[in-house]
Amino acid sequence: MSKHTHTHQFLFYLFIFILGVSIVSSKSTIEPCSNSDSCNALVGYTLYTDLKVSQVASLFQIDPISLLTANAIDISYPDVENHILPAKLFLKIPITCSCVDGIRKSVSTRYKTRPADTLSLIADSVYAGLVSADQIREANSVSDPSVLDVGQILTVPLPCTCFNSSDNNLPAVYLSYVVRPMDTLAEIAAGYSTTLTDLMNVNAMGVPSVGAGDIIAVPIPACASNFPKTSADFGLTVPNGSYAITAGHCVQCSCGPGNLRLYCQPASLAVSCSSMQCKSSNLMVGNITTQPSGGGCNVNSCTYGGIVNGSIVATLSTTLQPRCPAPHQFPPLIAPTALTVRDPLFAPAPAPSLEGVISTNPGTVIPGTGLRPGGMSPANGPTGSTSDAPSPIPLSRYQSGILLLCVVISWWV
Ligand SMILES: *[C@@H]1O[C@H](CO)[C@@H](O)[C@H](O)[C@H]1NC(C)=O
Ligand SMILES: *[C@@H]1O[C@H](CO)[C@@H](O)[C@H](O)[C@H]1NC(C)=O
Ligand SMILES: *[C@@H]1O[C@H](CO)[C@@H](O)[C@H](O)[C@H]1NC(C)=O
Ligand SMILES: *[C@@H]1O[C@H](CO)[C@@H](O)[C@H](O)[C@H]1NC(C)=O
Repeated sequence: MSKHTHTHQFLFYLFIFILGVSIVSSKSTIEPCSNSDSCNALVGYTLYTDLKVSQVASLFQIDPISLLTANAIDISYPDVENHILPAKLFLKIPITCSCVDGIRKSVSTRYKTRPADTLSLIADSVYAGLVSADQIREANSVSDPSVLDVGQILTVPLPCTCFNSSDNNLPAVYLSYVVRPMDTLAEIAAGYSTTLTDLMNVNAMGVPSVGAGDIIAVPIPACASNFPKTSADFGLTVPNGSYAITAGHCVQCSCGPGNLRLYCQPASLAVSCSSMQCKSSNLMVGNITTQPSGGGCNVNSCTYGGIVNGSIVATLSTTLQPRCPAPHQFPPLIAPTALTVRDPLFAPAPAPSLEGVISTNPGTVIPGTGLRPGGMSPANGPTGSTSDAPSPIPLSRYQSGILLLCVVISWWV
C-alpha cells in the first residue's frame, strides 16, 4: 500500500516536472501585454512552393507592395506583383502585431481552405511552421479537424512581439524566426548582426539552445518615426536595410544603411496624392538643401510627418550643422530576377502547387512535403501546454522517454 502511494507520488511529481519542462521550452516567445497598442513586426517565411508576389501577399493579407519593400525588392520592375518567387525563398513578411487575449499576436491573416487541406498541411507547409495545427484549431473552434470544408475561411494566428519596438533602448523591429534543423543560436545571431546574449535576453533563454521548429524573436535595428498620434501611420518603424510604403502608396520611407534616421520621399507609384510641398518653400518631402556658411552648413529639409486627416504633413526645418551632409544613401535594392535560392540547407524537393493538392485518400502522403494529412504533426502529439500558450509543445525525445517510463512503471505497479 505505502509502496503504491510512493510510486503514485513519484509519478505525480514526474508528471509535474514534464509539464514544467514543456512550458519552459515553449515553442515561441510569448510577450504578455495589456494595452491595445500594436506595432510593426515581421515574420520570417520560407516559401513552400513557387508563388507569385501577389499570392504570398494574399496568404498573409498584406499589400504586395509592402511585401516587396520590406524585402528591399525593386518595385519598379514591370508587372512586379505577378513575378514568381522561387520555392524555399526566405522572405520577411510585414505584419501588424496586436494584443489579443493578453499576449502579442497577429490574427489578421485569413486562409481559405482548398481541397485536401488539413490543419497540419496548412500549418507546417503553407505557413511554414509559423503556426501549429492546434493553434489554428483553437483560433477557429474547429471541433473535428479531419473535416475541413473546402472554401472555409480560417483565421491563422501568427507569432509576433513588440517589446516596445526597442532593444537596449534603441528602436527595433522584431522578426519571428522559425528555427531550421541545422540552425544554431549563434549563427542566427550572426546572421542578423546581433549577439548571442541579446538573443537569449530577448527570448528569456537560460541556455543558448534551440530546436528545429522553435520560433524565436530576433531584434532588427530600425528607424523610428515621430509622427503625431493622430497620424494614420503613427508608430511607423522601418527595419534597417529596408523600405516601407505609407500614406496610401504616396510616400516611401527607408532605413539605413549608413545611419538609422528614417528618410521619406514621394513614392514613384502612379497614385494621386495630397500636396507634398513644405509650406512657404519650394521644397518637397525628402528634399534637403545645403548652404555652407561661416559657422558650418545651413541645412534646409522638408520631411514627411505622417498623414493626418488624409493630408500629408510636410515639415520644413532649418538647422546649422558643423558640416554639410553627404548625399543620401539608400539601402541597396534587389531586382526580382535576382531572387534565387542558394541556401544549401534546403534539399531541392518539389512542393505541392497552390491549386494542385488534390488527394482524397486520407492515407496518402502529400507529394513533396512528406506530410501525411492529419499525421505526425508535433501539434497532434501529447503536450503539456496550457490553452492560452500560443503554441503547443512537441515533447522532446527526453520527455517522451520519461513519459514512456511512467507508463511502464504504472503498468508494473
Ligand atoms: C520604449 O522605448 C522608448 C524608445 O524607443 C523609450 O524611450 C521608452 O522608455 C521605452 N519604454 C519602456 C516602457 O520600455
Ligand atoms: C544596417 O545595415 C547595414 C547593411 O545593410 C549595415 O552595414 C549596418 O551596420 C546596419 N546598421 C545597424 C545599426 O545595424
Ligand atoms: C525634391 O524632391 C523631388 C521628389 O523627390 C525631386 O524630384 C526633386 O529633384 C527634388 N528637388 C531638389 C531641389 O532636391
Ligand atoms: C482632423 O479633422 C477633425 C474633424 O474631421 C478635426 O477635428 C481635427 O482638428 C483635424 N485635425 C487636424 C490636425 O487637422
